[in-house]
Amino acid sequence: EKQGYDWFMRKEIFEQPKAVADTLLGRLNERGELVLDELHIRPEELRRINKIIIVACGTAFYAGMVAKYAIEHWVRVACEVELASEFRYRDPIVDANTLVVAVSQSGETADTLMALRHAREQGSRVIAICNTNGATIPRESDAVIYTHAGPEIGVASTKGFTTQLVACYLLGLYLAQVRGMKYGDEIAAVLGELERMPQLIQGMLDKAPEVYELADRLKETQSMLFLGRHVGYPAALEGALKLKELAYIHAEGFAAGELKHGPIALVNEGIPIFVVVPPAGRDQLRDKVIANISEVRARGARTIVLAEERDEEAREHAAAFWALPHVSTLLQPLVAIIPLQLFACEMATRMGHDVDQPRNLAKSVTVE
Ligand code: F6R
Repeated sequence: EKQGYDWFMRKEIFEQPKAVADTLLGRLNERGELVLDELHIRPEELRRINKIIIVACGTAFYAGMVAKYAIEHWVRVACEVELASEFRYRDPIVDANTLVVAVSQSGETADTLMALRHAREQGSRVIAICNTNGATIPRESDAVIYTHAGPEIGVASTKGFTTQLVACYLLGLYLAQVRGMKYGDEIAAVLGELERMPQLIQGMLDKAPEVYELADRLKETQSMLFLGRHVGYPAALEGALKLKELAYIHAEGFAAGELKHGPIALVNEGIPIFVVVPPAGRDQLRDKVIANISEVRARGARTIVLAEERDEEAREHAAAFWALPHVSTLLQPLVAIIPLQLFACEMATRMGHDVDQPRNLAKSVTVE
């Protein structure tokens, strides 16, 4: 049932406040500690882990990229993220002290399944992050954290992605808690922030008309670029993937720091470039991104800037400005992705494409 929406995908985009809230439900006890009841791996085992490898495909892989930044910061354990299709065929180093995390909305993706089987054969423990109860990937894993997004019908993943992010954050915070992390206060603050996320995502959805208006202006465009640093980088990659999948427009995401190493050659007069600007912080991350925006702007790019509402400097460099609420850097993809999803959906709709069933794509890729 589309419940009044034109496409399942649009309905699913608008369901994200609830999907995120449902995925967070029941995870905190009365002392404000995180409980992951479904995670049947003993704390002693989690304390022994010396490496984490996240395996996934497509959008789930981008959620995994965000997770890497969060997990390494909170847990202080080396965390790699790898495309499941590459991991399986390169003789990776995994053993009993490696924790493998398989992220999959459907739980049936063949590449991810093969990667997790390979990891288990080497004696490593596997946690699945999955949206489908009883699917093959969670059944074959040692433990599972379910995302509670509800069925995702649109082929392009939207609420699947944001709930995967939430599950990844929860896993990171839980590992930090179990291992007696040094960022105790920060973790409590992050949990509080996660609780406010449904409301902040709703705030982004309320601004959909601004996004639709831009889609109208850009509908003749052949090629678009997406830039970000840190967790804004996977958000950029995911924004580009949505546009390729749905609107069949050439779209590429880059780490903003890579611009000068090649991609800046693509910048020509009028090319739309979406830039995710991190919140102002101590590490000058934001200033670096602002500098990147002015570089592409100087070469004629039409910059669509996603930055904090109060970031006046970012606004000055913007042909279009999409305001983000103030959240901590690591959580920013949860809000930054919303307008990018809406944009891709709207572009595709205006071009007359089938948004729920893009050409050549299947909802779950059960062959390698
Ligand atoms: C993109 C998309 C795909 C999936 C990928 C993994 O919108 O839907 O890239 O994310 O095929 O699927 P799951 O998460 O089911 O393993």
